Amino acid sequence: MEFKQIYINHMKNPIGFEFDNLFINCEVTANNYPKNLEKRLIITHSDKSIYTTDWQLAKDLNFKPIFKLDSKTRYTVLVKLRSDEKVYSRKAYFETGLINGFHHSQWIGSDDTSIHGISLSKQFTLPKIKQARLYISGLGLYEAYIDGQKVGDEYLAPGFTNYNYYVQIATHDVSSLLQDSGFHTLRIIVGDGWYKGKLGIKNHGGTANQYGNILMANAELDYVDDSKIHHSLGTDITWKTETSQITHSGIYYGEDLDETLSVKSLSTKEFKKPTKHLKDRLSLPIKEHETFYPKTVNTSDRSVVLDFGQNMAGWVTFENTLPKGTKVELQYGEILQKGMLYRDNLRSARATFTYVSDGKKHLIRPHFTYFGFRYVKLVGFPKDIDVNLFCAQALYSDMKQIGRIQTNNSSVNQLFSNIEWGQKSNFIDIPTDCPQRDERLGWTGDAAIFAKTASYNMDTYQFNKKFAFDIAVEQSFRDGKVPLYVPNVDGDDGGKAVWGDVATIVPWITYVRSHDSTILRQNFGAMMSWVDWIHDYAKSTKNEFLWLDSDQLGDWLALDTEDIMHLKGKTPDELIASAYYYQSVRIVAQTALILNAKREHEYYKLLAEKIKEAFIAEFYTASGRLITDTQTALALCLKLKLYPQGSQKRITQKLVGRIEKDQNHLTTGFVGTPALLPALSENGQNDLAVQIFLNDDYPSWLYEVKMGATTIWERWNSFMPDGSISDNGMNSLNHYSTGAVMQWAYEYLLGIKQGESLTIQPEITPKLRKMSGYTELDTGKLNIQWKLVDHQGSKVNLILDLPFANAAKVILPRTNAWIDNGVRHRNGDILSPGHHEISYNPKTNFIDTFNVHTALSQFIDNREITGALKQLVPFWDFIQLPGNIEHFKDYSILQLSREMKGIGFSPLTEEQLEKINQYFRTYAQSQIEEEDELK
Ligand code: BGC
Repeated sequence: MEFKQIYINHMKNPIGFEFDNLFINCEVTANNYPKNLEKRLIITHSDKSIYTTDWQLAKDLNFKPIFKLDSKTRYTVLVKLRSDEKVYSRKAYFETGLINGFHHSQWIGSDDTSIHGISLSKQFTLPKIKQARLYISGLGLYEAYIDGQKVGDEYLAPGFTNYNYYVQIATHDVSSLLQDSGFHTLRIIVGDGWYKGKLGIKNHGGTANQYGNILMANAELDYVDDSKIHHSLGTDITWKTETSQITHSGIYYGEDLDETLSVKSLSTKEFKKPTKHLKDRLSLPIKEHETFYPKTVNTSDRSVVLDFGQNMAGWVTFENTLPKGTKVELQYGEILQKGMLYRDNLRSARATFTYVSDGKKHLIRPHFTYFGFRYVKLVGFPKDIDVNLFCAQALYSDMKQIGRIQTNNSSVNQLFSNIEWGQKSNFIDIPTDCPQRDERLGWTGDAAIFAKTASYNMDTYQFNKKFAFDIAVEQSFRDGKVPLYVPNVDGDDGGKAVWGDVATIVPWITYVRSHDSTILRQNFGAMMSWVDWIHDYAKSTKNEFLWLDSDQLGDWLALDTEDIMHLKGKTPDELIASAYYYQSVRIVAQTALILNAKREHEYYKLLAEKIKEAFIAEFYTASGRLITDTQTALALCLKLKLYPQGSQKRITQKLVGRIEKDQNHLTTGFVGTPALLPALSENGQNDLAVQIFLNDDYPSWLYEVKMGATTIWERWNSFMPDGSISDNGMNSLNHYSTGAVMQWAYEYLLGIKQGESLTIQPEITPKLRKMSGYTELDTGKLNIQWKLVDHQGSKVNLILDLPFANAAKVILPRTNAWIDNGVRHRNGDILSPGHHEISYNPKTNFIDTFNVHTALSQFIDNREITGALKQLVPFWDFIQLPGNIEHFKDYSILQLSREMKGIGFSPLTEEQLEKINQYFRTYAQSQIEEEDELK
C-alpha cells in the first residue's frame, strides 16, 4: 500500500483559510489493502502536542478533530496507519490566518471616487528575519508586490463576495521575498473589479459601484526576527497613495495599462471597516493553469488574429518588444465569422486590453479582469509581430482534477473535454453562467444543474462551501428566498424553482460526493429556510403542497416551446416548480436524518409525502395519465418517482413514445436535459439514451462537437449548420449547463452509484466498445474500465479499482455471474477494496446479430431496428398496434410472414427476406466501432 496524500478540509496544506470545522482525509492506493488497518492522528504545533487520537480501527481514513485553533499558527498533521506487518505515516500542515480580522492595520485608500486604480506603498527596513507573513484584503481587486515581485500566484483577489456582508483576508508566506535585511518596498495596487466596476444585468452593460466607490486595501506584514520577536507593520495613514498606471479596468471592460504614465500623488485616507465581517478566506485561489500557444488566422480583413485553439477564460500575456509610447490593443472573442473576429455575442462587454509600452522587455498581462475567448485580435502591433511572444493562460479556481472519462469515440471524448472546459472557464471563484459577455454572474440554476458533474470532474468541496455560504448570506436578507444569481448585485429578484433550489442541491451533492457532512451542518439552516420560504408562499395559494401561481423560468431554452421568445419551453411552470419543491424538501429531510435532527426529519419527511400526494392529484388524470407529454415533464417525474403507484412502466412508455415523435432527438432545456438520459437508463431504455447521446445532428451534444465547439454552447442551436452563429442577443459559446449530461456518463455508462453504500453498475453498450474513467472518493481513486473484447460482444473485460473502505456491489449487464481474479461471483456480489479484473460471457452477445428467424422480443425494444423494419416489412404497422406486440413477441419475422396471410398480407418474398437480413447485418456492423483510441 502507498500512502499518497493527506487533505485538510479537502485541500493540500492550506494556509489562511477559515477552518471552522476540521476534516482530515487520507488518500492511499494498493492492489490489495491490508486487513485490520488501524489509523492514528497526531497534531502538533512547534513540537507541542495539540491533539492526538489512540490507534483505532480504520473503517475509513477520515478524522474530525475538535480543538480550539489559535490565529497565525501552523499546525503539523501526522497520520499513521498500521497493519499487522507495517506502519505507514505521512505529514501535512495547515496554517490559520487572523481568525478575528486585522488588529495592527487600517483600511486605507483615496477618497477620490472618480479614480479606477490606485497604488498604495510603504518603504521599510527589516532586520534579518526568520519568517514573514502578509495578511491582506482589498476592495475592489488587489495585487501585492514586495520589491517589485508579485506576492503569491493567485489573481483577482479577494474574490467575488457580497462585500457589504463580508470581505476575505488572504495569508501569504512572504519569507522568501524578505530574506535580505535592509530596505524593502511593499506595494498594493487596487482596481475596480466586482466591487466598483460595472456589473449585473439591470442596466445595459451593468451598474457601477454595486458595493462601493472608494478603492482601498488593508494589510498587515508580520515577521519574526532572529531573536524570535514578533513585529507587525500595517497599512495606515503613513503609507503613500498614488494613481495607478492601470487607469481603468473592469470585469466586462477589460483593462487599460499605460506604462509611460507618470503617477500622481493622492492624499492617503483611513476608512472605517467597509463590511460587516472580515473573514479568513473561503475562496480557493484563482490561478493560471493551462498555457496555450497561438496560430495566426488568415483573416478576410487582413487583421492579425491569433487562434489559441481552445475556448477558455483567462487572458493573453506577451513579451513586450514594442518601442516606448506604442499603443496597442488586444480584442478578445470566441469565434470567427466570415473570416473575421466576431464579438457581437459579448454584447456590451468591451473585453479589450490596451497597453502603452514603456519600451522595456518584460511580460505584459492584465490584472483586474479576465476574458472568455479563443481568439485575440491584435491592433496597433507591427504587422510582422512574432506570434511566439504571445500565450494564453487559462484562469480558474484552484480545484484538483479528480475525474475523467475516455471512450473509443473521438467525438465523445471531445464532448467530455468541452464539458471540462465549460467547468474550468466558469469556476472563477463562483460558478458563473458564462465568462465572456456582460453577465458572468453566479446564476443559481446553472450551478444547481451542473454541480454533480462538476463534482466528479474536480474536487469542488471548498469551492462549493464558499458558494453555499454566499447563497446563505443572500438568503439571510430575504427570509430564506434565494435570488437568481449569487452574489446578488442587482437587488431582490429571485424565488424561482430550480434556480433557488441551488440552496439544497449544492450542499447535498457536496456531501454525497465527499462523505463530509460538515457542509450539511453549516447549511442546514439555510436549506430549511429555502423550503420554508416556498411553503410559506404556497400557503397563500390554493394548495400549500404545490408551487402554483408564480412566475418561473420554466424549462429554460427548451426546444418544445410555445413561448414566442423561445426561452421557457412547454413544460408547465407549476409542474417543474412543484417537482423541485418536492426534491428540495426531500433533501432537507434526508439532511436532518444525517444530522440526527429527529423532529426536523419527521416534519420534512411528512411534508415531502404530502407534496407527492398533491403532485399526483394535480398533474395526473384520474386514470393516471400525466397532463403533459413533454420530454422534460416525463423525465422529471420518472427521475423523482413522482407518479401514481404502479405507473412507472406507463410513464416510461410515454416518454419513449414522445421521443419517437421527436425523431429520437431531445427537445429539453435546462431542467429536462440532466434528467432525460438518467430517466431512460434507469428504466430499461439505455439503448435509447445512448442513441440520443450519440446523435450528431441538431439538436444534440455531438452536433456542437461536429461544428467545431471546444466548450459547451448556451443553446442547442448557437450555431447554424452553415457555420453561422444564430444572432439572438443571448448566445454564449461557453455555458456549461447542458454539459450536465456528463453526470449520466459517470453514473450510468461507467456505472458509479454513490449512496449509503457504493454500487458499480455500468451500462455496457456496443455503441462504445471501450470506456475508461475514474473519479476520486474519500480515500482514493475509483477506476473503472470496461471493454467488449471481440466484435460480437461475446466477452466483456472489466477492470475495477475500489479505493480503501469502499467495498462495492457489482451488477453487470446480460449475465447472472462473472469471474473476478479467477473467482466466480454472482451478479450483485460485494467486492472488497483493491484491484479487480473481471470477465464474463454475456447471455446474449452485445453486438446483436439478428435475422428473420429471431423472435421479435429480442429486438422489439430497439427503436433503431423497429424504425427500419417499418420500411422493410409491409405488415409492421399492424404488428405495432396496441396489444399486437405482446401477442406476437415470440414469433420471428419469417413465422409472421406466413401467419399474416390470414389477414390479407402476402408472404414476404425471398428478395424481401434477404433485404431484412441484409439490414440486420449492417445494423450489427454499425455497432462495431473500429476507431480505437483507448490505449
Ligand atoms: C443566463 C442563464 C440564466 C438565465 C436565467 C441568462 O442570461 O446566462 O444561464 O440561468 O439567464 O434567466
